[in-house]
Amino acid sequence: MGVDPTTTKAWARLTELAASYEPDLRSALTPEWVDRQTLVAADLHVDLSKNLLDADVEAALLSLADEVDVAGRRDAMLAGEHINVTEDRAVLHTALRLPADASLRVDGQDVVADVHEVLDRVYAFAERVRSGEWTGVTGKRIATVVNIGIGGSDLGPVMAYEALEPYRQDGLTCRFISNIDPTDAGQALSDLDPETTLFIVSSKTFGTLETLTNARLCRAWLLERLPAGTDDAGAVARHFVAVSTALGKVADFGIDTDNAFGFWDWVGGRYSMDSAIGLSLVVAVGPERFAELLAGFHAMDEHFRTAPPDSNVPLRMGLLNVWYTNFLGAHTHAVLPYAQLLHRFPAYLQQLTMESNGKSVRWDGTAVGYDTGEVFWGEPGTNGQHAFYQLIHQGTRLVPADFIAFARPAYDLVDRTDDGETDVHELLLANFLAQTKALALGRTADEVREEGVAEELVPARTFPGNRPTTSIMAPALTPSVLGQLVALYEHITFVQGAVWGIDSFDQWGVELGKQLAQELRPAISGDASVAAEQDPSTQSLIRYYQENRGR
Ligand code: F6P
Repeated sequence: MGVDPTTTKAWARLTELAASYEPDLRSALTPEWVDRQTLVAADLHVDLSKNLLDADVEAALLSLADEVDVAGRRDAMLAGEHINVTEDRAVLHTALRLPADASLRVDGQDVVADVHEVLDRVYAFAERVRSGEWTGVTGKRIATVVNIGIGGSDLGPVMAYEALEPYRQDGLTCRFISNIDPTDAGQALSDLDPETTLFIVSSKTFGTLETLTNARLCRAWLLERLPAGTDDAGAVARHFVAVSTALGKVADFGIDTDNAFGFWDWVGGRYSMDSAIGLSLVVAVGPERFAELLAGFHAMDEHFRTAPPDSNVPLRMGLLNVWYTNFLGAHTHAVLPYAQLLHRFPAYLQQLTMESNGKSVRWDGTAVGYDTGEVFWGEPGTNGQHAFYQLIHQGTRLVPADFIAFARPAYDLVDRTDDGETDVHELLLANFLAQTKALALGRTADEVREEGVAEELVPARTFPGNRPTTSIMAPALTPSVLGQLVALYEHITFVQGAVWGIDSFDQWGVELGKQLAQELRPAISGDASVAAEQDPSTQSLIRYYQENRGR
C-alpha cells in the first residue's frame, strides 16, 4: 500500500537538484519571486520566499506530492476512510469543525449530527458555568475550572487558553493539571477554594495513569475540604465533569454521565482540542468565540481541500519540510511566534508533529529508508533571540524556522521617553523582520570590514545567510486565526506523513514506557525481587533513590 517515495522520479530529481543546489537568497529575492511565493490561506499571509527554494525544486516537490498521491490521501482522510491503518480507524478531526448543515456519513453514522449534538451540550454547560447558574454543592458560583488531562487532553486547551487570554470572561480562571509529578496538583490546588472549583477530567481513553491519579487526588482534596456534612456523591456530581470517548469508565469513576461529554475514536488525542476536550476553553472564552475558533479551523480545512497545489499553503510548507529533512539534512524545525500569547504554541506543536511523524515503519510495516519527523521546538521572539538564535544564525546546522506575527497587538502599549514615543508592538515587529532578513541575507566579510571591524574579528562577525525561514502574518490573534494556525500545522503534518508513507495517527512509541513504569513501580517501593530483575543501570538508580528518599 502506498508508494515508497524514494522510488519516485521526483525523489531522484530532488536528489540531483540537492547535489548541485547553491542557495543565494540575496539574488533570489526579487519582487517577482516574493510575489510568487507569497500565499494566502484564509486570513494568513504566508511568505515562503526566504526558503531555500527555486522554481526547479518547487516543481519537483509538487511532482513528488503527485507521485505519492497526497491529494488522494487527503481526500480519503476527509471522507472518513480508515487511514489510521494500525488502529483501523478513520481520521476525522476535520469533521469536528464542519458546519451544522454539512453532512458526512462514516461507517454508517452521521458524524456531523453527532458532533453538533455534543457541541450543543458543551455550549449549554459552559453557559451555565459562565452565568453562575451552575454552582458548587454549597451553592457558590464557580470561579476556577481545573482541567485534568495530559498530552492532547491538555496541551491544546492550555495553549488556546493562553493564546486567547484577551477573550476570557472576568472572574473565571482555568488551571491545568497534567504531570504525575505531585508538584503539579499540589501547586495548582494550593490556593483554591473547593466550594468554587470545578474539575474537568479530560481523557480520551479514561485510562491514563497521570490523569486518573490526578483526578483521584483532586477528588480527595475536594471531599476533605468541603464543609463537614456535605454529601460526597452530591459533591462529586457538582464539582466533577468529564470529557472522554469511554463514558462507561467515566461512570465507574463516579462522575454523573449527564455531565460527561463524549467524542469518538476517529479523533486523535493530539487532534482533539476542537472536540469536547476544549470544554475548559469554552467555559473561559464562551461558545461564540469557540465557534469562531472552529470556523477558523474549517476555513483552513477548506483551503487545504480546494487550493491548487502551487498555492496550497499546508501542501507547500509540508513539502518544504520534506526537502529540508530528506535532501538538505535538517533535523529540527523551529517555530518562533512573535506573540507572547502563543508561548505554549511550540509545546503544542511538539506533540502534534512529533507524536504524528516520529515513525520508522511505513503503512505496510516495512522500514523506512529515509528520515522522518523533525524535532519541532521554539520559544516566543524576542526571548529566543537572546537565547538560542546564535546557533540558527552562525551555527553549523540547518534550522528551518517559521516566524509568526500579527499586525495588531493584543496589548497596545507605548514607551514614552524624553526622545518621544515608541509603539512597543512596532519594536516587536522590527525584530520579527530583522531576524528573517538577517537569516536570509547574512552579512559578508566585506560588509563587516566596511563597518571598521578589526581583521582578526571579521570571521566571527560574518553571517553566512541563506538560512531558511517562512513568515506567517495575520491581522490579529483572534479565535478564528488561532484555529487557522492550528489546522495549518495539522495539515502540514499530514502532508509530510503522506509523503513518507507512515501512519501519522497512531502513537505506539509511547506504550513501552507506560508498561515499564507499571512493572517498575514495586521495585521503587522496595520490592527487592522486582529490583533484581532490572538492568544494572536501573538497579543502581533505584538504590540511589532509596538511599536518598529520606523516609
Ligand atoms: O501517551 C500518549 C497519549 O496517548 C497521547 O496520544 C494522548 O494525547 C495522551 O496520551 C492522553 O491520552 P488520554 O486523553 O487518553 O488520557
